[in-house]
Amino acid sequence: MPPKERNIAIMGYRSVGKSSLSIQFIEGQFVDSYDPTIENTFTKTTRVNHQDYGVKLVDTAGQDEYSIFPAQYSMDFHGYVLVYSITSQKSFEVIQIIYEKLLDVMGKAHVPVVLVGNKTDLHQERAVTAEEGRKLAESWKAAFLETSAKQNESVQDIFHQLLLLIENENGNTQEKSSCVIS
Ligand code: GTP
Ligand code: MG
Repeated sequence: MPPKERNIAIMGYRSVGKSSLSIQFIEGQFVDSYDPTIENTFTKTTRVNHQDYGVKLVDTAGQDEYSIFPAQYSMDFHGYVLVYSITSQKSFEVIQIIYEKLLDVMGKAHVPVVLVGNKTDLHQERAVTAEEGRKLAESWKAAFLETSAKQNESVQDIFHQLLLLIENENGNTQEKSSCVIS
């Protein structure tokens, strides 16, 4: 089976670890230094349930509560990774605002989303409980994971779960039209 092409955007407040999660997923490494992102696009082929996926991952600039949702991220994307840091209540508030703007811009009631609480290795600085994260994701009918980009904890799972959510959202109908029966 040919790979299915999937466009994914990773979004959230600044410095929550969007780039670190992206680089850990794509390259399997962690960089301690902080270099604010304007925009980066990564590609990787990954296999889930015997299916290859060509993932195009767009790592976006950090947003805050006042940011206008960038229109270019509402078109041609199959799913979203929405990230906050478990050490930052502010980042948890901002992710809820970003989610509302996302639905608004897309004009949809539901979008495939994985909510990610990153930086679990900084447990002494924890400001958002796992329960709060889980409840928010439940209210969105989204998947939820706590991760550490630094320790490569649950990072692959983010993308694998999102690919499966996208598959369910499509109901497998989208690709059928391209099947050739000979
Ligand atoms: P913007 O591009 O500015 O929005 O930031 P970002 O969300 O891409 O964050 P980035 O990945 O650049 O990480 C910000 C800082 O947090 C860097 O110093 C990272 O090394 C650090 N960081 C990211 N993930 C983790 C993590 O899981 N644990 C720890 N301890 N630090 C992390
Ligand atoms: Mg970044």
